[in-house]
Amino acid sequence: MKRVTAIVRPEKMEPLKDALFAADVKGMTISQVHGCGAQHGWSEYVRGTEVMLNMVPKVKFEVVVEDDAVDALVDTIVGAARTGEVGDGKIFVAPVEEVVRIRTGERGASAV
Ligand SMILES: Nc1ncnc2c1ncn2[C@@H]1O[C@H](COP(=O)(O)OP(=O)(O)OP(=O)(O)O)[C@@H](O)[C@H]1O
Ligand SMILES: [Mg+2]
Repeated sequence: MKRVTAIVRPEKMEPLKDALFAADVKGMTISQVHGCGAQHGWSEYVRGTEVMLNMVPKVKFEVVVEDDAVDALVDTIVGAARTGEVGDGKIFVAPVEEVVRIRTGERGASAV
């Protein structure tokens, strides 16, 4: 199993959520986060003075899936979250050792 973490623009939260439901994911976790990428934020003029805003609001999606579902999930995320401008976000894929459904005690793939 893998955890696919996608950090995307806040305005992509609803479109990505809808795309994930349409792709029939079993569950997801969403958090509001702040971060920066290669540009280390952006600069903006506040009352005539240029200020650097390093930490830009983003939305983090975490979805755990079986290994063979990762490629399709990544394609779904890119399709829903891409604008082509800097700051579109990033996707990280990491291994997940175990999943337990608390209600039933099921473990592994059937608990996802
Ligand atoms: N290496 C990283 N580690 C952890 N989080 C990251 C990393 N790179 C990006 N992020 C997260 O993803 C968000 C969006 O990153 P962003 O899309 O700006 O990446 P980028 O590499 O600068 O690409 P681009 O040049 O398209 O802007 C950041 O605000 C941050 O929350
Ligand atoms: Mg960037």
